Amino acid sequence: MLRIVVCVSGGGTNLNAIYEAIESHKIEDAKIVRVISNNPGAYALTRAKEHQSESVCVSPKDYLDRGAFNEALLNAIREASPDLIVLAGFLVNIPSGIIREFPNRIINIHPSLIPSFCGKGYYGLKVHEGVLARGVKVTGATVHFVDEGIDTGRIIAQKAVNVEPGDTPEILQKRVMEQAEWIILPQAISDIAKGLIEIGDKDRI
Ligand code: GRF
Repeated sequence: MLRIVVCVSGGGTNLNAIYEAIESHKIEDAKIVRVISNNPGAYALTRAKEHQSESVCVSPKDYLDRGAFNEALLNAIREASPDLIVLAGFLVNIPSGIIREFPNRIINIHPSLIPSFCGKGYYGLKVHEGVLARGVKVTGATVHFVDEGIDTGRIIAQKAVNVEPGDTPEILQKRVMEQAEWIILPQAISDIAKGLIEIGDKDRI
C-alpha cells in the first residue's frame, strides 16, 4: 500500500482528483495517510475531513522563524511515514532538509509545460497570465519530481491544452486543471503505486 502525504495551500481540486481516482480504483493500492496545509483557511483541509483523512495545519505564522517552521513541516511529514509526498498547489518552497530526507519521493503538479512559464514568480494565476501575455497557443501541465530548485526536477508527465481566443487567466486556469492537472497527477500516482515509475533513493533500494 503506497502511503501518500499530500501538501496543499488552497482549494484542493487536485487533492480531490486524487481522492476520486482512489475511490474509482483508477489508483489502486494507495492511501492518503495525511493532508498537510500551511494555510488554516485552505478549503483543501475541508475536503480532507470529508474524506476522513487525517489533516494537520503547519502555518508559518505559528513559528518564531523559518527554521522552526521547516522543522515542524519535516516532523509533520515524517510522522506519517510516507512513501510519496505530493505537492498539490502547495505554496511553500520545500526546505532542502526535507528533499534530502525523501530523495525522489516528492512530486509536484505545475500548471504549465515546463520549462516554459515556471520557476520563481510563476505560480497559480501568474502562470496563466504569463502564457496569455506571451501569446502562446498551447499550454498545459507538468508532473515532476521536486529537487532543490524551483520546478526543476525530472519531468514525469505532461499534457497539452489549447489556449482559446478570448481566454482570461481564470478561464485558462480552469481548462488546464480540468483537461490536464486532474488527469496527469492521478495517473502519475497510479503509475508510481504500480511500480511503473520508480521512486526513492536508488542506492537505498
Ligand atoms: C493548481 O493550478 C496547481 O497547478 C497549482 O496550484 C493550483 C492548486 O489548485 N500548483 P488546487 O488547490 O489543487 O485546487
